[in-house]
Amino acid sequence: MKDFAQLEVLLTKALESVKEFAELERVRVEFLGRKGKLAEAMKGLSALDDAERREAGKIANEVKQKMEKMFEAKKTEMENQKLAGLAEEEWIDVTLPGQVLEEGHLHLTSQAIEEITDIFSRIGFGRVLAPDIDWDWYAFESLNIPKNHPARDNWETFFIKGPEHGRMGRVVLTPHTSNSQVRELEKGKLPIRMINIGRCYRRQIDVSHNPMFHQFEGFMVDKGITIAHLKGVLDYFAKAYFGPTRKIRLRPHHFRFTEPSFEVDITCGSCDGTAKIDGEKCRLCKAGWLELGGAGMTHPNVLKAGGIDPEKYTAFAFGWGVERTLMMRAGIKIGDIRLLHKNDLRFIQQF
Ligand code: DAH
Repeated sequence: MKDFAQLEVLLTKALESVKEFAELERVRVEFLGRKGKLAEAMKGLSALDDAERREAGKIANEVKQKMEKMFEAKKTEMENQKLAGLAEEEWIDVTLPGQVLEEGHLHLTSQAIEEITDIFSRIGFGRVLAPDIDWDWYAFESLNIPKNHPARDNWETFFIKGPEHGRMGRVVLTPHTSNSQVRELEKGKLPIRMINIGRCYRRQIDVSHNPMFHQFEGFMVDKGITIAHLKGVLDYFAKAYFGPTRKIRLRPHHFRFTEPSFEVDITCGSCDGTAKIDGEKCRLCKAGWLELGGAGMTHPNVLKAGGIDPEKYTAFAFGWGVERTLMMRAGIKIGDIRLLHKNDLRFIQQF
């Protein structure tokens, strides 16, 4: 009986120093657990005779209940304390000014890509995807540019190390988006009205060249396609993207994969195509015109490479730089084109 009475005293002391719930649980196991102090004291009861055991058992039970109550009381007390603390810890001043979340936006180039995609989709040109790491065949050979042809020098190409794979040749980082043409023809679904916008790579780096840039490639294949269709589509794009007063012209040029080939020019937005601003020579353009990019009527060899009979079908194509086109519209001259991909927010946030 002394043991039981002592347990109560010990527990009172132990509970006084408890501050955390985990500690409280530890003390509970120590006293009331299956192998705890109370269970230990109970064991002693078996040595007593019947009458004594009954008497002591009763007391033991009372002590047990008392101890349980002490725990409950301590627990309630701690919970109340915690709640009272919460009000102090968690109050917020709803009158403080809020935190303004910064709103991001698409990169200048992505904005242009979305807009170009949209403009062409309105006249039925669906966006297709072509790999930007591709076989030599799609980037050059199938486009009527054989190996060792000097025209290849126009494309300062990165070649991936590795062996040649028969007709496909080596693997290249595509220097233009024209690799999409024969890839699309090979799908064998005619007519074609596609736009491919993708990354291109060339071994050039200076203030006006980044080794990675973007082009958009248009390609239309059907029976009876003529230069008139090409002009119509380019004129539509120029007006939709640059504004309704702009005009385009086709200037003879040479590409291996088109015949005839053109450079496409657009009237200058600064001098309105007059080449003069306040009597002074316009400094943005060449005689009232700005150069947009290449275009032409698809060479019969390209159609043949894609398994299409050039006697039955004709096609036109064009390929322009995205960065170049967007800068032309914004009338911005970026002093160093590499800034576009430097991830300097001070630059990017301006657009
Ligand atoms: N691929 C050419 C280049 O990167 C541009 C080009 C010219 C694309 C004429 C065409 C085209 O589709 O018809 O310089």
